[in-house]
Amino acid sequence: MSSLFPVLVEDAAPEGTDCVRLRLVARPGGEGLPSFEPGAHVDVMTPSGLIRQYSLCGAAEDLSAYELCIRRDAASRGGSESLCTQVSRGMELLISAPRNAFSLPDAQRYMLVGGGIGITPLLSMMRRLQANGADWGLSYYTREPDQAPFRDMLRASPYREHVRFSRSLKDGYPDFLEMPSPDTAIMLCGPDGFMDAVFSHAVATGWRPEQIHTEYFRPTESTHALSDRPFEVVLARSGQTVTVPAGQSIASALLAAGIDVDLSCEQGMCGACIVPLLAGEGDHRDVVLTEEEQGSHIALCCSRSRTPSLTLDL
Ligand code: FES
Repeated sequence: MSSLFPVLVEDAAPEGTDCVRLRLVARPGGEGLPSFEPGAHVDVMTPSGLIRQYSLCGAAEDLSAYELCIRRDAASRGGSESLCTQVSRGMELLISAPRNAFSLPDAQRYMLVGGGIGITPLLSMMRRLQANGADWGLSYYTREPDQAPFRDMLRASPYREHVRFSRSLKDGYPDFLEMPSPDTAIMLCGPDGFMDAVFSHAVATGWRPEQIHTEYFRPTESTHALSDRPFEVVLARSGQTVTVPAGQSIASALLAAGIDVDLSCEQGMCGACIVPLLAGEGDHRDVVLTEEEQGSHIALCCSRSRTPSLTLDL
């Protein structure tokens, strides 16, 4: 697990009908909050004891506080629910330093597409793009626009002319998708089904997949099982070789061999465990690395090997 540090809850307030917004500040006399770039998330140790990841939705330029928005989720195993119901002003929480697997690429124009609570990483992007005078737009899909989180801010100046609310994809895909443009980056976040639908529609309309940047809140379904063939991992710095048996992750095999590994979500979603891959071909099962990055990096918590051995920069 990545290391956690304490912060204070300066405010905990309802946001929309089913979310809570937390404002977290550094402890008095302690170090300030680490900087972050739009799209970053932090791990939070929830009162239930489960660690969960949440996007930072405040302005990256404002390090006086981190802002998180947590949705109460009936399907939750208790992590988000405990944050929504048990956290109050003045409490201390443990969080990780920000990590970013969803950063803004260079582009002439940015179209942000958010479904439900998938709006959160897009908010810090939107603030940055607006401050930079960038060409941008936001399509916000939310079942009840009048009760949606952040509706007042998004309907006010200077954002309102950039933001379009829709209830669901039944109302149509974002208009801009009908005109593929090579200079535009699409930043897409929301429930898996929503993202899959937007992604497929965009590609079918002529957008290149690498123009569509995504962040999943849950791991994508893997068609693979961890019970595939064993393989070897060579650690380039020490020369040590570790066997990864069928049914065990690279991270588990390394930890069992006494080698320290950064871990957080352990589901291929957060990027904490990614290390440089020097030789061999990875069987990539995370949702963080781009196709290009897969040639030179691998996620240790979930990915395996297509070759008998992998050499890691460890
Ligand atoms: S621990 Fe999160 S991607 Fe591996």
